[in-house]
Amino acid sequence: MAGVLLTGQAWGADLTGDWVFQAAPSFPCFTKMAIRQDAAGLHGTITSEWYGDLPMLDLKVVGEGPAGERLVFHIDNGNPKLKPLDLTLAPNGQGVTLTGQVWYEKQEATAHRATAAEMAALDFPTYPLPAPAHVPSNGLARTPPMGWSSWNKFAEAIDDKTVREIADALVRSGLRDAGYVYVNIDDGWQGERGPDGVLHPNAKFPDMKALADYVHARGLKLGIYSSPGPKSCAGYAGSYGHVEQDARTWAEWGIDYLKYDLCSGEGFYHTAETVQAVYQQMGAALVAAGAATGRPIVYSLCEYGRFDVGAWGRDVGGNLWRTTGDIEDSYASMAAIGFDKNGVPHHTGPGGWNDPDMLEVGNGGMTTEEYRTHISLWAMMAAPLLMGNDARSMPRDTLALLGNAEVIAIDQDPLGRQGLPVRKQDGTEVWTRPLADGSVAVGLFNRTDKPMAMTADWPALGLGDHPSVRDLWAHRGVVSGAVHTVPAHGVVLLRATR
Ligand code: GLA
Repeated sequence: MAGVLLTGQAWGADLTGDWVFQAAPSFPCFTKMAIRQDAAGLHGTITSEWYGDLPMLDLKVVGEGPAGERLVFHIDNGNPKLKPLDLTLAPNGQGVTLTGQVWYEKQEATAHRATAAEMAALDFPTYPLPAPAHVPSNGLARTPPMGWSSWNKFAEAIDDKTVREIADALVRSGLRDAGYVYVNIDDGWQGERGPDGVLHPNAKFPDMKALADYVHARGLKLGIYSSPGPKSCAGYAGSYGHVEQDARTWAEWGIDYLKYDLCSGEGFYHTAETVQAVYQQMGAALVAAGAATGRPIVYSLCEYGRFDVGAWGRDVGGNLWRTTGDIEDSYASMAAIGFDKNGVPHHTGPGGWNDPDMLEVGNGGMTTEEYRTHISLWAMMAAPLLMGNDARSMPRDTLALLGNAEVIAIDQDPLGRQGLPVRKQDGTEVWTRPLADGSVAVGLFNRTDKPMAMTADWPALGLGDHPSVRDLWAHRGVVSGAVHTVPAHGVVLLRATR
């Protein structure tokens, strides 16, 4: 008889009331819950270290009898990809057991009845958000940022020594001089906060200031990573409740670039207004902290392109904003983003850029021709070029892909216009990008799995009958009427001057 469980008449297992979890899986780390039955019906709140207080959605009794009756509910963490998965609460004799699955983490946790003091001790703090205000430009990123980031290759297996070796490799390989100057530590550097709230790096990064000095001494810049939520995506400390303090800490270390990743913040910032407000809060904090040390900080927004971020990224002080979810090292993933999900083109321009995610070039999941398409598309889009490979050991062809000065010049063109497809036919695409000197970059892309013959229709592109044309991968001039055999999944990248 459904419902009996809650009143406890029949089975003696009334699950309404306050509960504290003894221990819970580290994601999303449920800490307590409050279940009520009143005139409004059955309802409850479950608190998580990642997402704060979450309503227990569709909370109801299912099953029958002392062994079968239990409560089910689901949560919404604000991420459209997380399907509402049921969580189950069943009496276990002493208390209650929660089971189910939240995203990739199996849940199994027991809770006991809690006193008011125990509940209060686990209250999830909330902080006021700033009223909308324009964050002044930091004057940086007049062309798309270029550098390296640890995530795509190393994920959490990143440390001080590797970052130093990468810095050395950028110098040695000539890639620093080609423009790749930001050395960005992504998720996984964070340790614990001290009693004063100051966030310290973990044991893999013994001295961030010394690391910044090392990087700076090589003519490079150092980037770091955090989240507006309490937890970063990999579960490290985020900047929730410590925004200004963290910005000051990084500025004192000599940090030059912050990637600010929504992560667990999506649990409670899931409206356009709140997401914009938390990004504005850090934007203003970075401007203030950078002004105090005289070292302005590039601000990279990572909220996966939600809420039309390009329309307001600049207003919150952003220099680049992710337009998509995460890239993977496969042609399918790269092509889906590069050809079709590159944000709203007119949002891009000097000081603020659509960011289709970091490069996978050199990580092994694509052919050389596919990686050539990857970097050519990113250059055509005026995308940030953040290498994502192990720069310490680069085969010659990887170096040639990343270090092609003529292709980098397209990416870094001072006009800052995002290129666009102008013709799509039979799996081929012709893209153009106008450049500051009046010339035009033209990409002949072949998305099919066999070679295709392609030509550019110069008059239709506004370049007259016989422009002067250079092939930027072959490093030579080509006759304007040439028919190009574009390899499967490949590209021919041209620069044409009328
Ligand atoms: C998110 C971001 C990635 C990376 C990871 C780190 O998934 O989109 O680029 O920063 O977090 O945990």
